[in-house]
Amino acid sequence: MLVFAKIKSVQQKIKSLKKGTTIGFVPTMGALHKGHLSLIEQAKKENDVVVVSIFVNPTQFDKKEDLINYPKTIDTDLSLLKSVFCDIVFTPTAEEIYSNNIQSQSFSFDGLEHQMEGKFRDGHFNGVGTIVKRLFEIVTPHKSYFGEKDFQQLQIIRTMVKKHQMPLKVIGCDIYREDDGLAMSSRNARLTKEHRKIAPFIYKTLKQAKIEFGTKNALEVVNWVEQEFDKQPLLELEYFEIADEDTLLTIENKNPKQKYRAFIAVFADKIRLIDNISL
Ligand code: PAF
Repeated sequence: MLVFAKIKSVQQKIKSLKKGTTIGFVPTMGALHKGHLSLIEQAKKENDVVVVSIFVNPTQFDKKEDLINYPKTIDTDLSLLKSVFCDIVFTPTAEEIYSNNIQSQSFSFDGLEHQMEGKFRDGHFNGVGTIVKRLFEIVTPHKSYFGEKDFQQLQIIRTMVKKHQMPLKVIGCDIYREDDGLAMSSRNARLTKEHRKIAPFIYKTLKQAKIEFGTKNALEVVNWVEQEFDKQPLLELEYFEIADEDTLLTIENKNPKQKYRAFIAVFADKIRLIDNISL
C-alpha cells in the first residue's frame, strides 16, 4: 500500500498506471469503521486499483468545535486500509489542498442543498462539493463510492458530477449497521454509554415509520415519530422528514410512481446522529 501526502506524488503514481487501469475511489475523513471498509471492499471488486483519501475537510464544518473534536486516528486507519488491501492512500494537509485560502466554492445543486441538512448546517454542502470536486480532479477515478447514510450528500455529489460533466460514476452503497441497528458512524465512538445504549431507537423508529407509511399519510407518520421521540428523554429529535428520493422535497401526497425516503437527525447529548430508510 502506497501512502502519499502530496498532490504531485499521488498524481504521478496515478499517471504511471498502465493504460486502461480502472480506478475506484473512496473519499473519507478518516476515523475509519466497518462502513468505510465495506465501501473499499466494493471498490476492490469493481476496479483494478483502489484509492482512499483521508482528509478532515475544514470547509464542510459549520462549527469550529466539531472540526476540532473530529476523531483523528491515522495509524489505526492505515492498518485497517492495509487489511482490506487498499492500493493507494492520499493523506493531504489542509495547506496542500487549499494553499492559504481555506474557503469553499459556491455551488448550485438544484435546491437539494437547501433541504434537511442544509437547513441546519450552514455552508456544509458547498464545503463537501469543493473538496469532492478537487479530489476527483486529483485522483481521476472511474468510480467513486459513497455511503447512503449521507443520502443527501450522495444525491448532491451525483448532481455535481452531472452538472460539471465529470467523467466518473458515483456509486451509492447500502448503510452499514451495528448488530443492534445503529448506522455506523465515526461519531458513535463519542457517545456516552447510556446514549450508545439508547441510540438504536433511531433505526427502530425508522423501521416502524416505514410500516406506518403503508397505511398513514406523511404528516401522520411525522406526528407519530415526533411523539415517539417526546417519550425519549435522552434523544432530541432535530428533524424527521419524508421526502422524494430525487428532489429531496418533503412530500405532500403519495404518488405510487415516486420513490420516498424517511430522513432523521437526532441529538444524543451533543452528538448529532443521522440516518434514513427507503420507504
Ligand atoms: O462523507 C464524508 O466523509 C465527507 O463528507 C467526504 C465525502 C469525505 C468529503 O469530505
